[in-house]
Formats: sequence, structure tokens, C-alpha cells
Amino acid sequence: MSSVRKKLIAGNWKMNTNRSSAIQLASHVVASSVGSDNANLLICVPAIHLADVSKLVANSKVVLGAQDGHWLESGAFTGELSMSMLKDYQVEYVLVGHSERREMFADDNQRVALKFEAALKNGLTPILCIGETLQQREQSETLNVLISQCEAVVEQVGIQAFENACVAYEPIWAIGTGKTASPEQAQEVHNELRAWFEKQDSTIAAGLQILYGGSMNAGNAKELLSQADIDGGLIGGASLKADDFLDIYSAAG
Ligand code: 13P
Repeated sequence: MSSVRKKLIAGNWKMNTNRSSAIQLASHVVASSVGSDNANLLICVPAIHLADVSKLVANSKVVLGAQDGHWLESGAFTGELSMSMLKDYQVEYVLVGHSERREMFADDNQRVALKFEAALKNGLTPILCIGETLQQREQSETLNVLISQCEAVVEQVGIQAFENACVAYEPIWAIGTGKTASPEQAQEVHNELRAWFEKQDSTIAAGLQILYGGSMNAGNAKELLSQADIDGGLIGGASLKADDFLDIYSAAG
């Protein structure tokens, strides 16, 4: 099931950088990135830097993303940001259901589905993050976990909504550990996931970008990205070094 799907190389800066280092990093990425027919470049920056970074990426090949957003439009939700607020700052993509949010901020499947829906309603492309723990993998629960994470969203928005969305497979045991899934391990999961989507709708499955995340770096990116069902990367640590991030982008072709 390989295809003409364009790759997406996405940086997730998480809660890193300060104002000046964010500007420096984004400027470096913007200045050094050349357009590619094969891959797009996205940076998901801390929300407080969106205003600065949106100016830097304007008219560049780099696209702006946010790391989370609330599912409601407005209201008494101290500390939260709505999807329409993000849209105001030229945000085009938003992560939903990152494992750090699921584990530390009580984002369950239902909440993630609502966030996914709210992103689409506001013209943002949601990147649905899914992944299993080490224990779940050892108990051969990987696919069941991933499917239930996807199913909750499909139930909320319908399969057609995935025409304007991406999925990021991020095994939790590989995040920030330096322990990446092998290309074969990742490809196996991506292929099974795509097969599950195919059962829902074959056209959607064929076009769906499924990114891999978890200790992707300049050294292992090429092999991971050359797998038939791996359509890009969601990169944490290595996205904080512009040259490493750009090397991953180059590895995507
Ligand atoms: P690392 O690349 O640091 O392992 O993080 C992956 C991740 O969680 C991206 O969202």
C-alpha cells in the first residue's frame, strides 16, 4: 500500500524554548528550508510563541502548528485556548491526544475526539496521536489500543473527516527514550493501522498520512521514512536543533 502520499515532517517543541531561542530556532528552520515536492515541514511550537513564529513562517515553506486546543469555542476554562484562537494566529495543524496529554492532563479518548472535531470545525488539520505503553506492547495489546483510540474519533466525526486529518503513531516507550521502534516494527504497525482504516473507507486509507514519532533523529530517519506506510515523522527532541530537524526533512526526500 505504498503511494504518492506526500511526507510530513513535524516538529513538536513541547514545553521547550524561551522567546529568543524560539525565534532563533524558527528563523533558522525557515531560512534553511527549501521547498520539496515530496515533503512538507511543520513546527508545533508552544502557544505563547505562536504570535512571533507566525510572522516568521509567513510566506515561507514552513507551516505552523499548535500542540493542543480546547474543544469548546469559549467560556470559563482558565488557562485553555480554543481552536479559533489558534486559527487567528495562522495555525494550520494541531496535535490532539498526544500521550503526554493523555497521561498527565486527563485527555481521554472522548475528549480527544471532541478536540479533533473542534479542530476541523475551525479549519485546522488535526494530527491524532496514538500509541501504546510498553506493558501493552508486551501483552500484545498494541493494535487493540491503537484501534480503540482511532475508533473513538471515527465514532464522533465519521471516517470521511479523516480526509483532512493525519494520524501519528507514537509508541510511548519510544518517546524521549532514545529507544526508537525499528523500521520493521513501525512499518508493521502502520500497515495494520492502514488496513483498519481501509476497512472503514479505502479511499481515505490510501490518502491518510500516518506519521511515526518516538526518538526519530537524523541518524534513523531515512530508514524509517523509506517504509511504505510511514508518511512522515513527529519529532520531539531532534526538532529543537534546526540542523538535525532539517536533516530529517532532507531524509524524507
Ligand atoms: P522524541 O522525538 O523526543 O522522542 O518525542 C517524540 C514525540 O513525542 C513527538 O510528539
